[in-house]
Amino acid sequence: MLKKFKDCFQDKKILVTGHTGFKGSWLTTFLLNLDADIIGFSKDIPTNPSMFEVLGLKSEINHIIGDIRNYSKLNDIINQHSPDIIIHLAAQPIVRESYLNPVETYETNVMGTINLLESLRINNSKNESFLLNVTSDKCYENKEKNHAYNEEDSLGGYDPYSSSKTCSEIATAAYRRSFFTNSNVNVATARAGNVIGGGDWSKDRIVVDCVNALFKDETIVLRNPNAIRPWQHVLEALAGYLTLLTHMINNNEMKIDLNSSWNFGPYPESIVNVENLVKELIAEYRDGQYTVKSADELHEANLLELDINKSLEYLDWKPKLNFKNTIKMTVEWYKKFYNNDDMLKATNNQIKEYLK
Ligand SMILES: NC(=O)c1ccc[n+]([C@@H]2O[C@H](COP(=O)([O-])OP(=O)(O)OC[C@H]3O[C@@H](n4cnc5c(N)ncnc54)[C@H](O)[C@@H]3O)[C@@H](O)[C@H]2O)c1
Repeated sequence: MLKKFKDCFQDKKILVTGHTGFKGSWLTTFLLNLDADIIGFSKDIPTNPSMFEVLGLKSEINHIIGDIRNYSKLNDIINQHSPDIIIHLAAQPIVRESYLNPVETYETNVMGTINLLESLRINNSKNESFLLNVTSDKCYENKEKNHAYNEEDSLGGYDPYSSSKTCSEIATAAYRRSFFTNSNVNVATARAGNVIGGGDWSKDRIVVDCVNALFKDETIVLRNPNAIRPWQHVLEALAGYLTLLTHMINNNEMKIDLNSSWNFGPYPESIVNVENLVKELIAEYRDGQYTVKSADELHEANLLELDINKSLEYLDWKPKLNFKNTIKMTVEWYKKFYNNDDMLKATNNQIKEYLK
């Protein structure tokens, strides 16, 4: 896997939007292991502590602070750097926050994506370029049925966050059809499940809430113990994104259009409810307790399963980690962090181990 990725990404100029966030910090570190040339574009460093700061990534890349809603700034950066590849992660990614700030969520997640697409349209360069727009499994119309969503299923999205990701998908498909057919711009979208791993400190995420409680010796409070999600380690999703890009860049002869949407989720054994996830986290941490608080009135999906057959069939990608190992790697990362270990080394070790 390492060789395949290195052959493709070494010395490539890669613009990562949202590079300072949870997934962005892992992706930046992953790409540094592949000797890529990274330009990061983000609004801010969203949490404190922050994986981006803990790993000292600022000095390793071209770190740019900017707002994706500001078309002219974004366009200037794209003009100036002419990236070979863009991986678009920048977003307001939290469902509950989207209920509090719906307009900002749509502006960031929808207009931010359109600004990126528009810049690629205007700068339609002579060289081939590749955009991977990272959306979400929540972009599907959730019928709360025992059904794993595949790429052909209808899109929807109940809450502002989920529907903003749907809009981002729809806008990407419209730009692709309208402007990028027979052009040098190649565009795909990726829909991952609930991504977990060390280094996340975002608000309103269950693993983060658990870690915060466990390391303070407090009781974990669960809002939606029965909500079922496809849990996967962040490295699984990132390996999926990079595998898809590898195929797009190598222009592999395929029976399927690579410039389309792709699900990256875990095998069914990792599709479990929140309560089971928490039990596994506590077992791995070897201590802790939880209590259930009745859910508030904000609607969140109860049943979310992802069908990954398209990626399994057409990309040489498949999940490598089972549920137990996913939890183990996550807890191990936080234990090392709270033990003041060298976290760049610990993170690189997890990446190297994964790539073996
Ligand atoms: N974490 C998950 O479980 C998960 C699951 C599915 C999809 N996703 C998607 O993956 C992407 C990354 O998620 P994450 O968990 O790393 O989120 P995060 O909150 O940790 O990071 C978000 C990043 O986006 C940047 N950002 C936010 N608003 C911006 C703006 N207006 N302009 C420029 N940058 C801005 C932030 O600075 C940060 O770098 C998001 O698109 C999210 O919707 C995440």
